[in-house]
Amino acid sequence: MTDLTGRIALVTGAAGGIGGAISRQLAAAGATVAACDLNESAAKDVAASLGASHRGYAMDISDSKAVTAALSTIESDLGPVDILVNNAGIDKIERFVDSKEDTWRAIVNVNYLGTVIVTRAVLDSMIERRSGRIINISFPMPVGSDPPARWCTQAPRARSSRSARRSHARSPPRASRSTLSARARPTPLSSTRSPS
Ligand SMILES: NC(=O)c1ccc[n+]([C@@H]2O[C@H](COP(=O)([O-])OP(=O)(O)OC[C@H]3O[C@@H](n4cnc5c(N)ncnc54)[C@H](O)[C@@H]3O)[C@@H](O)[C@H]2O)c1
Repeated sequence: MTDLTGRIALVTGAAGGIGGAISRQLAAAGATVAACDLNESAAKDVAASLGASHRGYAMDISDSKAVTAALSTIESDLGPVDILVNNAGIDKIERFVDSKEDTWRAIVNVNYLGTVIVTRAVLDSMIERRSGRIINISFPMPVGSDPPARWCTQAPRARSSRSARRSHARSPPRASRSTLSARARPTPLSSTRSPS
């Protein structure tokens, strides 16, 4: 495992199944984790379970003002972010004909715009320091699977990695070569899927 001692890692959706696992791995590699989640108390619990140097924060990734405010607190508590893991996501699996506009908008706001908002928030500091890593967690989905809002947010997430890489080809930070596609696993999010 790469030694991440001295690195500050911000994980979104850290209170969830995959975010918690990512946070544990980063802490085990020596990074100091800023565990961020909509659910502040659960984020703080995750941070506390990792050890005294880690912290938990409330962060709604779909709200740019909230992200800026949380990032400012993180930087003053822990220092500038070296590693960003865009992991937070929501899902509601249902047939397209049964799904509602509110659901499409919520999924796009969190899964796509949230990724863009948090990435943009950490970028200036990474560019200034010519150092940083951005990792996006996505979901391998065939185009055309139900409902469209779900798969429509996964491809842009992957492309935002490639776009960030191209923009900074000669000057770090580096975005993940391709978005990491997590394998299906049972978490609160996956339990929102219909059994069929
Ligand atoms: N579970 C799977 O099978 C699976 C497979 C592939 C990819 N993924 C992806 O992995 C990521 C994490 O999934 P999970 O299964 O751990 O889900 P989860 O539901 O267990 O965790 C998601 C976390 O994100 C948080 N969250 C939701 N909206 C937020 C917001 N606006 N701001 C900040 N935090 C917010 C939730 O509070 C929750 O703690 C998602 O992006 C998902 O698409 C999951």
